[in-house]
Amino acid sequence: MTTATFPGARSARQPFDPPAEYTQWREQPGLHQAVWNGHTVWVVSRYEDIKAAMTDPRVSAQALALQSNGAHDGTNAPDIFPRMDDPEHARLRRMLTKDFTVKRVNAMRPGIQQMADDLIDAMIAGGQPANLVTDYALPLPSLVISLLLGVPYTDHDFFQTITATMMNINASRDEKATASRRFFGYMMELVARKEREPGDDLMSRLVHEHVLTGELRRETAAMNGVILLNAGHETTANMIALGTAALLENPAKAAVLRDTDDDAVVANAVEELLRYLTIVHSLVARVAHEDLEIGGQQVKAGEGLVMNLPAGNWDPAFAIDAGELDFDRAVRGHLAFGHGVHQCLGQVLARAELQIALPTLLRRLPGLRSTVPLEEIRFRNDMSIYGVHELPVAW
Ligand code: HEM
Repeated sequence: MTTATFPGARSARQPFDPPAEYTQWREQPGLHQAVWNGHTVWVVSRYEDIKAAMTDPRVSAQALALQSNGAHDGTNAPDIFPRMDDPEHARLRRMLTKDFTVKRVNAMRPGIQQMADDLIDAMIAGGQPANLVTDYALPLPSLVISLLLGVPYTDHDFFQTITATMMNINASRDEKATASRRFFGYMMELVARKEREPGDDLMSRLVHEHVLTGELRRETAAMNGVILLNAGHETTANMIALGTAALLENPAKAAVLRDTDDDAVVANAVEELLRYLTIVHSLVARVAHEDLEIGGQQVKAGEGLVMNLPAGNWDPAFAIDAGELDFDRAVRGHLAFGHGVHQCLGQVLARAELQIALPTLLRRLPGLRSTVPLEEIRFRNDMSIYGVHELPVAW
């Protein structure tokens, strides 16, 4: 019997570290059992066990029965490809990959830089203190993903509020279902509009190259739009805001990012921040389709598994002195974007946004500081993506 819930809460005094109990979960034999979304599941906490589980063909991403995000409560929305297995998962994912290649993302960099500079100009004009979340961290990735998808950014209040409900661990099933239904309805309308009036954007390409050719249902195209819009702004926004909070606590590291003109230094610092903070602390669920053994634990067919990515990224077997934010560490192979066939589709874009957003902020506002002590910042233990609810700053 266990009463532990997953994810655990990060402590107010050490809000960047994974919850203290994860160390014990990693060290105990077998896997730890905890309650997640109302279900008792196995929590996979060791680095190698997570990689093994995420590449084991007997472990399926069709874990919808475990999810309570409401996406399937009362909507006629189709299944989502992140919760499918290959070959259908691969077929649907392939239709999206060409918009997320290094080449495509590199072409977006000047535009992203311009957006970052414009937001900072507006923040300066708006006066101090500012809320870094609403003034910078959230609008930047929202603008980028809206432009890429062809979603009018003027609708951002709508989709940001809906996403916040869908990601709130404490929202009721009904609230999540309503939010999900409204989001899906919105995207169905967008799909119809792109069919009539195509633009140079991902949703138009999806409709004209895949829906109108009969390969993809309209509903699935709309659902893909929901997933991309959701995943595309919420995650990166939290990395920008939480990354900034962590840098303000580590001025020497902030100085490295501010003062370097070496792209490789910036890139490695961003990887280390991704590892150190591991904001996807709750969402990565799987189900065993056969009896199997992971990390010395017998897991029966039908039992749920949740990947404890923060624990994996802080596993001493992967990162020595994991609690050190170390920009010189060779951080390749971290789990912040997941692992295996479901590894983050938007990771190249997310990296580019972070590589631009963080140094630009520190260079343009060299006196940047939080106006409240760390203990007064509200951290997002209540959301399925970790971060800060707000970050009051001055400069
Ligand atoms: C998948 C993290 C940004 C789109 C994932 C997964 C993680 C992750 C951990 C794996 C989920 C699983 O295996 O169940 C992050 C982080 C981000 C970020 C930390 C930012 C710092 C983005 C962006 C986009 C995106 C910008 C897109 C526009 C997706 C999609 C999947 C995914 C579509 C599902 C892929 C699949 O199942 O094949 N992400 N993500 N993500 N991410 Fe991201």
